[in-house]
Amino acid sequence: MAAHDDVTGIPQPTKGIFRRKPIHDESGGHPFERTIGLWQLTAIGLGAIIGAGIFALAGPVAKHDAGPAVSLSFIIAGIASACAALSYAEFGGLIPRAGSAYTYGYAVLGESVGWFIGWDLLLEYTAIVAVVAIGVSQYVDFFVESFGVNLPTWMLGAPGTGGGHRVDLFAVILCLGVAWLLNRGIKTSARVETYLVFVKIAIVVAVIVVGAFFIKGENLNPYMPYGFGGVATGAATVFFAVFGYDAMSTAAEETKDAERNLPKAILLSLSIAMVLYVLTATVLTGMQHYTQLSDTAAFAYVFQAVNLPVFAQIVAVGAIVGIITVLFSFSLGASRVWFAISRDGLLPGWFAKTNARHSPHRPVWIVGIVSAAIAGFVPIGDAAKLTNIGILLAFIVVSAAVIILRYRSPHLPRTFRTPWMPVTPLLGIAFSIWLVTELDILTWLRFLSWFVLGVLVYALYGYRHAKLGHGEVVHTDDA
Ligand code: ALA
Repeated sequence: MAAHDDVTGIPQPTKGIFRRKPIHDESGGHPFERTIGLWQLTAIGLGAIIGAGIFALAGPVAKHDAGPAVSLSFIIAGIASACAALSYAEFGGLIPRAGSAYTYGYAVLGESVGWFIGWDLLLEYTAIVAVVAIGVSQYVDFFVESFGVNLPTWMLGAPGTGGGHRVDLFAVILCLGVAWLLNRGIKTSARVETYLVFVKIAIVVAVIVVGAFFIKGENLNPYMPYGFGGVATGAATVFFAVFGYDAMSTAAEETKDAERNLPKAILLSLSIAMVLYVLTATVLTGMQHYTQLSDTAAFAYVFQAVNLPVFAQIVAVGAIVGIITVLFSFSLGASRVWFAISRDGLLPGWFAKTNARHSPHRPVWIVGIVSAAIAGFVPIGDAAKLTNIGILLAFIVVSAAVIILRYRSPHLPRTFRTPWMPVTPLLGIAFSIWLVTELDILTWLRFLSWFVLGVLVYALYGYRHAKLGHGEVVHTDDA
């Protein structure tokens, strides 16, 4: 069948490394059940967004970089993320497929770009699962110690992170536990996720309401002790807190009425998270002078400092629950991207098989085991550095793709349109480039090694086995 680009009739490249998948390609089949509604999807979004970024990073960033103006850092990071979120929302409505940025890149910028974003997301999402699992242990330590119990030191952290540490056992168990839960099927796991997100939001709201009574004006003075430079550095770090809706959009094929619900859930979850972030960050720095904040488990320690030890324990439990929901969302994201790549033939189809509960169980277990290995044996700092770079690159590609597609194919049926084109996505690109340049050289080198491996896999396997190259993808006239 002749391949043409939507209503413009521009020929669709089907050869070479820039061949493009049709926007509405259904040729890979649809093995998932559409069981997720708008609120569950928003819960998955909030589950992925609110986590280690606020619970583990707000304290140290306030203390060392931004002071009480950490809330401003959250706002800057939030604006950067919102620009990209609007592009994700347009694509989410247009191409509600499991691969998220990978699929958008493949359909608009060509196979090799899609492949690298997919390959990049496999590493990033798996590393994020590991980072947040390690982040949980701060609050577990606080919680257990608050009862006077001392756990054996060998199980408390990766080698090199403290005297006697051998493995972060709790983080390992978490990664594997989440993989097990995901393989019980999306229906069960989405329900559990919704409950956990509810608990998390309730705790965050409680922190705001209870903490508001302990805010002292003098703690917020000076507001910007490290100047705007500190606020900007803080923004690059707390950027970790403002993504997650991208992982949620990988559940597109399991969502009811995805064309409408996906854009709404992306924007809803980011907006709710931003309001909560600004309020919690203000409460944190208002309760305790920024110089006194704890580097770990800061939210639990501020309540202990104002003589509310039981509430501090409740906050620790909320943080643990909150961070577990992030694990769930990114494990889901990584396995769905893997599934989508394999379904397209760029990785072996063996990975795209689903189990009786409609879960792509092989990628789920691989992500679980690899993230458990990283979480158990790598210090949190090293794993964390790897995460932001890939997310920012995905943001750049998605923002660029939304502009290109809008001009190349203006009449596609979009359920959501990014406003102020092309200013919004261009701002998203500019913010992402700025934040990427804040990352250190070692992070770039590690990332480049993964990139080179990706080139090899694509050259030796992906390019030759891609279904698009074998005429197995149905080209419709709409793409
Ligand atoms: N936004 C997620 C978090 O803060 C990754 O944990």
